[in-house]
Amino acid sequence: MSDLEATEELDAAQAEMDASQVELEHVRETAGENQPGHWFERDPLWFKRALFYEIHIRGFFDGNGDGTGDFRGLIEKLDYLQWLGVDVIWLLPMYPSPLRDGGYDIADFTSIHPDLGTTEDFRHFVEEAHQRGIRVIADLVMNHTSSDHPWFQRARAAAPGTPERDWYVWSDEIHKYEDARIIFVDTETSNWTWDEQAGAFYWHRFFSHQPDLNFDNPDVGDAMIEVLRFWLDLGIDGFRLDAIPYLYEREGTNCENLPETHEFLRRVRREVDENYPDRVLLAEANQWPADVVQYYGDGDECHMCFHFPIMPRMFMSLRREDATPMIEILENTPEIPENSQWGLFLRNHDELTLEMVTDEERDYMYEEYAKDPRMKLNVGIRRRLAPLLDNGRDEIELMHAILFSLPGSPVLYYGDEIGMGDNVYLGDRDGVRTPMQWTGDRNGGFSRADFAALYAPPLMDPVYGYQAVNVEAQLRTPTSLLRWMHKFIALRKEHPVFGLGTLEALRPANARIFAHIRRYEDDVVLCVHNMARSAQAVELDLSAFDGYTPIEMLGRTPFPKIGELPYLLTLAPRGFFWFQLVSERRRQPR
Ligand code: NOJ
Repeated sequence: MSDLEATEELDAAQAEMDASQVELEHVRETAGENQPGHWFERDPLWFKRALFYEIHIRGFFDGNGDGTGDFRGLIEKLDYLQWLGVDVIWLLPMYPSPLRDGGYDIADFTSIHPDLGTTEDFRHFVEEAHQRGIRVIADLVMNHTSSDHPWFQRARAAAPGTPERDWYVWSDEIHKYEDARIIFVDTETSNWTWDEQAGAFYWHRFFSHQPDLNFDNPDVGDAMIEVLRFWLDLGIDGFRLDAIPYLYEREGTNCENLPETHEFLRRVRREVDENYPDRVLLAEANQWPADVVQYYGDGDECHMCFHFPIMPRMFMSLRREDATPMIEILENTPEIPENSQWGLFLRNHDELTLEMVTDEERDYMYEEYAKDPRMKLNVGIRRRLAPLLDNGRDEIELMHAILFSLPGSPVLYYGDEIGMGDNVYLGDRDGVRTPMQWTGDRNGGFSRADFAALYAPPLMDPVYGYQAVNVEAQLRTPTSLLRWMHKFIALRKEHPVFGLGTLEALRPANARIFAHIRRYEDDVVLCVHNMARSAQAVELDLSAFDGYTPIEMLGRTPFPKIGELPYLLTLAPRGFFWFQLVSERRRQPR
């Protein structure tokens, strides 16, 4: 495709966007209500077919030229996200915060960090997103606050036994809840920290500047419900509930996944169902499958949960050239309620967590993916997707193909659609949170501020730097990763089977092949992925589809008809095929 043709295609995409805009306006007007979000299709299970996109607002686009991304900037980039095919934006914490943990240290739950804009900017952003058919969910940390939060300031100043003091978890000694693990092992040596002013220790599961709230105090739960209501009233479509397993503490337990936590979540869900239908609660519970599924309850807790254990196994399968780790974890994943969905991801704003693997698997992952000790952080690896995959285009495509083929809603991390790199020389997880690379211009087109004023330096190395990797260049290159992602996202969204269908893993003799069937109503899809660096042949038992024709989905190319004998396929190194299996009856013109 020439540059001109590419431009024409983009113009056509713009025209399509304009047309869908008119359509949305129409639906909005005819709906005759004024509630935010009402102009979306009325489908309470919309999130099961959605593509999520995670945004570090500070790093996305700087609208006011002060060196920090903000809501004004984000609004300017909504057309891009609409073009990409994003259905839901997940915003990292946007609240006032001393930013000692990327904003997960909240100092005020009901306003916007001044660096990012005002509450009015936020409201405007949500409206603009909705007008483009994009929903918005926000990160919400219920488990803890920043030690700067007025609740903590009030608590530490109050006398023991007073209601104010009771908002956090205090103790005179540290030999309490000793079975609870330490999560940030690189920084913390205890879950208790001494507070001079209070004259007592306070409990924290994360950094010592993030005291845990005391959910045994009913006022805390009530306050959290008020926070939820505040943002839902502003029109937000839901929340990613951060650190949800740790709300309560009980002696003799590991203080995770306690029944009391589930009870509180059922209360949250009732509140949402009764007053805010069509919103979504997405649980961040980094747990084993049997424990995570508890967060769906009987369909009466969270609508979605991240599938943490599958993620490292995808990386393991790729390096080992063996589909077994993925198949095993899928087989060990219990069914989830009909009205629920998995959130699937390759990378996010944290380290690639290795908490949900065995010790041996963890060693293997470190050896393969964290060759430089700087890449390790806590129990994980702080790198972005492209560098993890040695910038291999085939590998990046293959991993997305697998991600998109699994039952769940995929969650992309900003910048991964263009193959952004990371900076292991920055502290903590900042290396995977560098500015989005929009163009090859100054600061990667992210900000017009002086370089020194930027919240973090953009990548400038010859491989991943903004001159080599940026949105503008990739839009102009028909074969770019970005253009491929755009096409691939559209393909997935065309087929509800991926979000709604069942999965049957095929277990071919060649273990380098990850193959499975997805089914939803009449739609049958066969996904075959070659984990190996070399070309492979595989024989698949497709006798149940005798007489069906596989149609390769990207090119709509019919392949030889399936018979009774094993179906032979050959795949390029790290190659994959997605086929729609079409019966003779369905192929006949009516
Ligand atoms: C999980 C978040 O993803 C992470 O970034 C944060 O540091 C911890 N929760 C503590 O809030």
